[in-house]
Amino acid sequence: MAIRAESNSTSIRNEGAQSLLRVSRLSKSYPGPQGALPVLRGVDLALDAGTSLALMGESGSGKSTLLHLVAGLDSADDGSIHIDGRETTALDDEGRAALRRRTLGVVFQQFNLVPSLTVGDNLSLQARLVGRHDPAWSDRLAQRLGLEHLLDRYPEQLSGGQQQRVAVGRALAPRPRLLLADEPTGNLDEATGDAVLDLLLELSATAGAAVLMVTHSARLAGRLDRRARLVAGRLVAP
Ligand SMILES: Nc1ncnc2c1ncn2[C@@H]1O[C@H](COP(=O)(O)OP(=O)(O)OP(=O)(O)O)[C@@H](O)[C@H]1O
Ligand SMILES: [Mg+2]
Repeated sequence: MAIRAESNSTSIRNEGAQSLLRVSRLSKSYPGPQGALPVLRGVDLALDAGTSLALMGESGSGKSTLLHLVAGLDSADDGSIHIDGRETTALDDEGRAALRRRTLGVVFQQFNLVPSLTVGDNLSLQARLVGRHDPAWSDRLAQRLGLEHLLDRYPEQLSGGQQQRVAVGRALAPRPRLLLADEPTGNLDEATGDAVLDLLLELSATAGAAVLMVTHSARLAGRLDRRARLVAGRLVAP
């Protein structure tokens, strides 16, 4: 079953033709002691620009695996991923990296901050790499994320929740068209988590970004446009 937003304008077009992200029959197994262990068994998903989807599911159900495949950081066994109409599964490593830089913002479950760079430099790193560094937007992000007093610190001098907010800011700095966020509020208290989600949804509403966010919180998931759950390797409506 393809999980899609209901919209009058899309129903008369080809299914998913204009979706920013389209995942079809995606499968992925990992090698296990008793042979291949299937994690994703034919995932279908379409996400339009300016819309958000909460990805839910038990621990170990494959949420991070799906995000890694969409980000082009790992390859699927079968199926396809289209981003902005281009099949990423057909690109080589360099092509995928270029697409990732140009179009994607990724917040990993492990924050992957650069330890030798200050908070300020971590925040602007991604945007500088793609020539989209905007000092005013960077300052605003730091302020919205409550990081403005921490810009000269190094990641190891931050709490887990502060590091998480730097990772969110770094992903948002280039104003990505597709944001993949793996439990971006997992280490935050309720009010801070809400503030971070406000920011993600604002980007979606004002810049037309598509947001795919993993969360275990039904309350936060309820604030996104749609929800889907990974069960036994497939996406189902919750
Ligand atoms: N590199 C790997 N090699 C082998 N097995 C892996 C690998 N990465 C993940 N797995 C397995 O794949 C399954 C899905 O893992 P994944 O990290 O995608 O789950 P998740 O839904 O993100 O869980 P969580 O909510 O705990 O973050 C798990 O059973 C995990 O042990
Ligand atoms: Mg995970």
